[in-house]
Amino acid sequence: MRIFDFVPIRSIMTLKEINISYKEYGGIGELPEEDKELALAAVKATESSYSPYSGFRVGAALRLSTGEIIRGSNQENIAYPSGLCAERTAMFYASAAYPDADITAIAIAASQKGEICEKPATPCGACRQVMAEYQTKTGQNMKIILTGTRQVMVFEKVDDILPFLFDSLK
Ligand code: THU
Repeated sequence: MRIFDFVPIRSIMTLKEINISYKEYGGIGELPEEDKELALAAVKATESSYSPYSGFRVGAALRLSTGEIIRGSNQENIAYPSGLCAERTAMFYASAAYPDADITAIAIAASQKGEICEKPATPCGACRQVMAEYQTKTGQNMKIILTGTRQVMVFEKVDDILPFLFDSLK
């Protein structure tokens, strides 16, 4: 079998575009009350960061369907890959401690040299994938609030921050 036996004589390519939207605010004070509460909890969560190697203190706060707010922070290790981001620390803790609750929203903040960053920290790919898993599991949108002191970005669902997310083995 030669490779060109499989190549169609005339191929039709379609250019596709996707549209992603998010809300942007000029600071935490501009957020609606519920989002502001979660953003401030993420700022508070930076205080428990263990980040002696990077000095980058990340906090994550989750709102659960029970109404509870869960906080987590990045935890580093001298064997660098053994550490974990704030988002996954918070999500794994929430799922382990409250297995029946949905995570309806997550807020993230970061600080460096004692100051909360002006621009939001955007979650790494692995954390986005874990967000996708819990959103799929509960079948409910997870809102994402990326918090900086001069810029806040709000995404209504994980798909908007992780297009083409992996959510099926079929
Ligand atoms: N980090 C997080 O906790 N969340 C993010 O979204 C990005 C990065 C942590 C991992 C590491 O402890 C430090 O920030 C520097 O990369």
